[in-house]
Amino acid sequence: MRLLVVGAAGMLGHTLVPTARAAGHDVIERDIDSIDITDAAGTAAIVAGDAPDVVINCAAWTDVDGAEEHEDRALRVNGDGAGNLALAARAAGARIVQLSTDYVFPGDAQEPYVESDPTGPRSAYGRTKLAGERAVAAAAPDHVIARTAWLYGAGGKNFVDTMLALGAEREEVRVVDDQVGCPTWTGHLAPALLELAAGPTTGVFHVAGAGRCSWFDLAREALATTGSTCRVEPTTTAEFPRPAPRPAFSVMATERGADAVHLPDWREGLAGFLAARAGSTTTTAGGPR
Ligand SMILES: NC(=O)c1ccc[n+]([C@@H]2O[C@H](COP(=O)([O-])OP(=O)(O)OC[C@H]3O[C@@H](n4cnc5c(N)ncnc54)[C@H](OP(=O)(O)O)[C@@H]3O)[C@@H](O)[C@H]2O)c1
Repeated sequence: MRLLVVGAAGMLGHTLVPTARAAGHDVIERDIDSIDITDAAGTAAIVAGDAPDVVINCAAWTDVDGAEEHEDRALRVNGDGAGNLALAARAAGARIVQLSTDYVFPGDAQEPYVESDPTGPRSAYGRTKLAGERAVAAAAPDHVIARTAWLYGAGGKNFVDTMLALGAEREEVRVVDDQVGCPTWTGHLAPALLELAAGPTTGVFHVAGAGRCSWFDLAREALATTGSTCRVEPTTTAEFPRPAPRPAFSVMATERGADAVHLPDWREGLAGFLAARAGSTTTTAGGPR
């Protein structure tokens, strides 16, 4: 496939691009330095020129707290920008894979969210990402909306790296234990996105690490696996107020049949990330810089 990855310089793009190349695809990388998806005409011209079979949109405003204060700016990227890219993809005869999030749900369920569950975002970021889902679905019939969650991986600021850095500095970290979700490693998500890109099915897909845990569980597992002696203590969301409300329950499942894409358990994802991270640390530690 000839793939256009937009948002290629972000955390997911960092792993998606080499994964797609290793799978034999012809990949064009673009990010804000070579495409601005809020510019409809410019985006249409670039996508027409690139002539991809599939566009994968990893570009987004991902500052969840910042979106509370600047919802209009976040909406331009996550809502209008996604729609612009989908229109451009359709005009170029390409399929589009749009990344979305568990934040489109209210986060107060008792059972895992499936694709057809009613949305109801509680944060500005969630509202803008839902607007993007709707804009893509309206603009391009040949679309996939891939909702993922609690993403971490190389090439971007993420929770696991933050915990490992804190664990190296402190004797104790306190981590919220009353938010539950599905941690997802970009190393597992990237091949799943390529599978969805290949088609032929369309619509919404939930694609997140299997199983569930709290942020506390994730931090404890990450620190224990890396041999840290830092203690991890559970705390509550109420003790860590943030500008944007966080969903308490973000567990995702799929109701799709044979075309569902299942990722490995979150513990396997974490082990894969930590092993890759240790390998790259070893390499760079012995290298010239
Ligand atoms: N991270 C998570 O936990 C998580 C969870 C669920 C879903 N998702 C979704 O997964 C996707 C990838 O997330 P990520 O963590 O890889 O995001 P990321 O690291 O923030 O990367 C997004 C990239 O898009 C670029 N971008 C921003 N505005 C743009 C514009 N107008 N035109 C072109 N590019 C633009 C950003 O550039 P700048 O950095 O210069 O702004 C950045 O390089 C997003 O759709 C996100 O909503 C993420």
